[in-house]
Amino acid sequence: MGEKKNGLTVLDSGEVLYDDLYLLSETDEKGIITYASRSFCKVAGYTNEELIGQPHNIVRHPDMPRAAFKELWDDVSTKGYWTGIVKNAVKNGGYYWVYATVLKSVDKSGKISYVSIRTKPSREEIQKAQELYATLK
Ligand SMILES: Cc1cc2nc3c(=O)[nH]c(=O)nc-3n(C[C@H](O)[C@H](O)[C@H](O)COP(=O)(O)O)c2cc1C
Repeated sequence: MGEKKNGLTVLDSGEVLYDDLYLLSETDEKGIITYASRSFCKVAGYTNEELIGQPHNIVRHPDMPRAAFKELWDDVSTKGYWTGIVKNAVKNGGYYWVYATVLKSVDKSGKISYVSIRTKPSREEIQKAQELYATLK
């Protein structure tokens, strides 16, 4: 079944299962990480210092199709939000799945930032996303 440590279970497949409700991060307009919650750092396997200032593709998994992120950026910039299932890479190997809601925010001075609120997807959602992503580039 894998080993449970600190709220994380690592399966033989390399998939990391987590107990946390939300994994949060924020970026600037260009996708540079400006905030990462303790839960996000823990699951991704990075310290806060390692994530702040890095482009968000630091957690990108090679199985994720470019098309998903193109849609993410198109949707957040035009509609202000995007939701989707994302497979992310863990720093020292392995991966975890999230159901991500990305929102755009504009402050009084017109400065744009983005936040991603991630929760645990169901096995069915993961299965569907996996099948879809295998057909995309
Ligand atoms: C708020 C926010 C959160 C993001 N979270 C992730 C994430 O968890 N995993 C990921 O691979 N990309 C995430 N992205 C998208 C990345 O910025 C990037 O577009 C993606 O990793 C693809 O990398 P590339 O643009 O270098 O091809 C996020 C973007 C924003 C704005």
